[in-house]
Amino acid sequence: MSSVFEGTTFCIHTFGCQMNKHDSERVSGMLEGLGSLPVETIEEADLVVFMTCCVREAADTRLYGQVASMKNIPLREGSPLGKRYSAVGGCIGQRDGEKLLKALPHLDVVFGTHNLGSLPGLLRRAIERHDRASEVLEAGEAFSSDLPTAREHTWAAWLPITVGCNNFCSYCIVPYVRGREKSRKLEDIAQEARGYVEAGVKEITLLGQNVNSYGRDLYGEPRFVDVLDAVDATGIERLRFATSHPKDLTDEVIERFGTLRSLMPALHLPVQSGSNRILEAMNRRYTRERYLSLIEKLRAVRPDIALSTDIIVGFPGETEADFMETYRLVEEVGYSQVFTFIYSKREGTPAAEMEDDTPREVIQDRFDRLVDLVQRKAFEANQAELGAVVDVLVEGTSKRDGAILAGKSPKNQTVHAPIPSGIDAAALIGSTVPVRIEEARTWYLSGTVVDA
Ligand code: SAH
Ligand code: SF4
Ligand code: F3S
Repeated sequence: MSSVFEGTTFCIHTFGCQMNKHDSERVSGMLEGLGSLPVETIEEADLVVFMTCCVREAADTRLYGQVASMKNIPLREGSPLGKRYSAVGGCIGQRDGEKLLKALPHLDVVFGTHNLGSLPGLLRRAIERHDRASEVLEAGEAFSSDLPTAREHTWAAWLPITVGCNNFCSYCIVPYVRGREKSRKLEDIAQEARGYVEAGVKEITLLGQNVNSYGRDLYGEPRFVDVLDAVDATGIERLRFATSHPKDLTDEVIERFGTLRSLMPALHLPVQSGSNRILEAMNRRYTRERYLSLIEKLRAVRPDIALSTDIIVGFPGETEADFMETYRLVEEVGYSQVFTFIYSKREGTPAAEMEDDTPREVIQDRFDRLVDLVQRKAFEANQAELGAVVDVLVEGTSKRDGAILAGKSPKNQTVHAPIPSGIDAAALIGSTVPVRIEEARTWYLSGTVVDA
C-alpha cells in the first residue's frame, strides 16, 4: 500500500493530553513507515492530520476554523498528489464523526480514538478514489502501542498502560470519547519498557486517565504497583506516571515513592476542588480531608516530593465559600505547579444539566486570584532549590539561547545552564548532568554544570 504515500510529506497538529501526543507518535510512525516524510508546517505538507481534543470548549471551536482556513494555503511545489489531503482524528473525530465531513467540505478523512490504524487506508481511499470517508468505532483496536511509532524524543517514551476511563466525573467528556477503561497486559508493558531501555531511553512516563485503577478489568483488582515494580526492574533511569486519581491512590503506591530507585519525586494528583460539596457534585468520590491525608502520607515517605494538580474554577453552583476552600487547600499543600481551568460546559455530561448562574466576571476574578496564589507558591517552592545540586536530564538547548542547555530535574522542574565550554550541545541531549542551582524563578531554575 506504500505507493501512494511515497514522496509525500505530512504534518500532524496535536491538541490535548499526553494520550493524544502519544497517538500522534503512532500516526507519525505509520506514515513514515509508508514512505511519507514528516514536515513542520501545513505549507510544506501534502497530508495534514489534526489530533483533536474536546475536553474544554476553547480547543473544540478552534478546530473548525483551522481546518476551514487550510484551503487558502497553496499546495507546495512538487507535491505528487496534486491536492492537499486532510484528516481529523482524536477526541473530536470520535465525538463528531461524519458530522465533520458535512461541516467541512475540504476535509477528506475522519477517524476516531479507537482506530488509529485505519488512517493510512482511509487516506489512500481518499487519494486513489477521491472518496471522503469517516470511520469511528465504539471501541476497538486495543492499543495503539501495537502500531509503529516515531517517538518525539529518543531519550523519553510514553507508555500507555490503560486507555479509556470509568470514572465519569460529572464535568468530563473523556469517558464518552475514549470509552471504558481497558488495561494492557503486565507482560506487554514490561516488554515494551525493556525494549525502550535497550534502545537507550532514559525516562518512561506511564500513561492512563487513571493509572491507579490499572488491572481492575484484567485481574479483578488494581495492580498498578506491579507495573511500577516491573518497569523499575527494567533498569530505566527515570520513571513517571500520569494521571493519578486520588480515590484510587493506594498506600502501596505511595510507599514506592520511598523505595523504588527509578520513581521520580514528583506526582501529579488532580484535586479539582477543595470543597467537599463541589467534590461530591463533581462525582470525584473523595473528600478534602482524604486528599490532604494522601499528601501527608506522601510527604512522610518522600519529604521532597514535588506535587502538581489540576483545578476547575467556576463549577456549576460554586460559591465564594467553596472557592475559598480550594484557595486554602492550594495554600496549604504548596504545589510546584497547578493547572487551572475555568469550568467549560460539555454537552452530554451530567454537569451540563446543573444550574449554573455564577456571573462570568465573578468566576474570572476567582480564577485570577487563584493564579496569583499558584505563582507565588511555585516561586516559593523553587526558592528552596537555591544552592542544591540537581541531576538534569538534558532535553536540548533553551529556545531563546542556543548556548544554554535545558532539561528537567527529578522533580520535573525546567533547569537552564550554560553549556560547558568544549562540549557539544547535541552530545549532551539525553544525558544527565549535575547542575548547581543559582537562580530560582517561578517556572524555571538556572545554574551551572558542576561536573559534566
Ligand atoms: N484523567 C485525568 C485528566 C482529565 S482532563 C484526570 O482525571 O485528572 C485534564 C483536566 O482537564 C482535568 O483534570 C480537569 O481539571 C480539566 N477538565 C476536564 N473537563 C473539564 C471541563 N469540562 N471544564 C474545565 N476543565 C475540565
Ligand atoms: Fe475525566 Fe474524571 Fe476520567 Fe479524569 S478521571 S478522565 S477527569 S472522568
Ligand atoms: Fe482532550 Fe481527549 Fe485527552 S478530550 S484531554 S485529547 S482524552
